[in-house]
Amino acid sequence: MWTLIVLAGFGALKLVHGNAELQLDPIASRILREALADGIELALFNFTAPALQEIVAWAHFDVRKSGIPEGLLRAARNATTVDVHAHHVPNWFRAIEPSDGGMPSPAWTLESQLQHMANQSIGRSILSIPKPNEFLGDKNATAAIARLLNENTAALVKVLPNRFSFFATSALPYVDESLTEVKRAVETLGAVGVALTSNHEGKYLGNPEFARFFTGMEAMNAIVFVHPANPLMETAGGLVLANPTLYPQGIAEFFFETARTFMDLALSRTLQNLTHLNWIIPHVGGSLLSIIDRSITGRSEETTAIMQAFHTRCWWDSAGITYAHQLGGLLAYNISPSFLLYGSDWPWIPAALVDPAFDAIATSPFLNDAQKLAMRSENVKRLFEGKIGI
Ligand SMILES: *[C@@H]1O[C@H](CO)[C@@H](O)[C@H](O)[C@H]1NC(C)=O
Ligand SMILES: *[C@@H]1O[C@H](CO)[C@@H](O)[C@H](O)[C@H]1NC(C)=O
Ligand SMILES: *[C@@H]1O[C@H](CO)[C@@H](O)[C@H](O)[C@H]1NC(C)=O
Ligand SMILES: *[C@@H]1O[C@H](CO)[C@@H](O)[C@H](O)[C@H]1NC(C)=O
Ligand SMILES: *[C@@H]1O[C@H](CO)[C@@H](O)[C@H](O)[C@H]1NC(C)=O
Repeated sequence: MWTLIVLAGFGALKLVHGNAELQLDPIASRILREALADGIELALFNFTAPALQEIVAWAHFDVRKSGIPEGLLRAARNATTVDVHAHHVPNWFRAIEPSDGGMPSPAWTLESQLQHMANQSIGRSILSIPKPNEFLGDKNATAAIARLLNENTAALVKVLPNRFSFFATSALPYVDESLTEVKRAVETLGAVGVALTSNHEGKYLGNPEFARFFTGMEAMNAIVFVHPANPLMETAGGLVLANPTLYPQGIAEFFFETARTFMDLALSRTLQNLTHLNWIIPHVGGSLLSIIDRSITGRSEETTAIMQAFHTRCWWDSAGITYAHQLGGLLAYNISPSFLLYGSDWPWIPAALVDPAFDAIATSPFLNDAQKLAMRSENVKRLFEGKIGI
């Protein structure tokens, strides 16, 4: 397939408008053309060519001839778990994001993903790459990355539609571009919701600039999956990566990021006002649980509305080792176990933690066996109501 795409000396506009278009795979041509119609000039970016290669490869991928063992392609009868916190890592994306959260971006293959799913009895993974912000302050590059990620993920999901779904990538902090992108990803590419990060270029999700974005999501009854990101700090020289401790951000800062952004969503009233949005909160809330009394309900007169949102429209994924003790803190707020979801965070979870995370759920003192089983599959069906087959 490679030879169909002319990549050397990628003279973009020629490819889009000139005869050279004939040499492109029709899928690549379509993507370039449709992006251009939305004001995204993909051809200007040096990540576009490798991204299109990967997308075209997925579009022509024949999984039956791929050498992936047949036994991995179908879910085992008892593999009823739905993983709402799962990431793939396209090679072109890893090249522009070699690390995140202070950890190297892992290599990812479809076969290793399916092997992981088999190991954990996962029937369906909802894939996401929530962060398009690889070039801070560059709106065009951010919109281009979001578009290519959505096309890439949609093409990958089509390879095994019974095993995969995906959340759209937004172009936040750019609101107009994000509204276009997410609507398109949901309506034409089949995304089942949108994945955001705790902050987009230093702006937390309750930022007044994002109000219009969330009004748009409300109109779509969207499911919003939130993922932690590296904290950034505004300095005279612009935004810089902030990491106040000696540890990778993924270990400590990510949990604080979840707390910061849900505090912001509650104090800005985004959480309470927009009653058609459902939120998936990662890692059983991260450090959010520790600050609800003091920093959220303690600072707002809307305690009842905030707690009602936490009780009825927030869903909490299990990613990481969260069921040994942390879950007890969440349930202390009278959160119903029927709002708990399974998340693996694979392949970003360090290999050494995969089994401990599994065991922490299996031996958790906070849920009975029926509740643990529901956490893996029944609860998620209620949230997605027909949007995903299980
Ligand atoms: C892509 O372009 C950026 C500048 O826009 C440059 O920093 C980077 O090295 C280029 N990457 C490759 C693989 O050429
Ligand atoms: C599903 O069955 C396999 C093989 O019998 C077993 O190893 C696995 O633990 C089961 N999964 C669940 C979630 O019970
Ligand atoms: C699946 O489990 C096997 C056996 O424990 C292990 O060797 C392998 O690394 C696991 N694979 C993945 C992708 O998790
Ligand atoms: C961003 O894209 C728009 C529309 O294609 C273009 O007019 C503008 O010059 C671009 N901005 C930069 C900084 O490249
Ligand atoms: C929420 O609603 C209140 C009252 O109508 C309004 O003052 C506030 O601006 C709204 N905030 C958001 C983020 O929608």
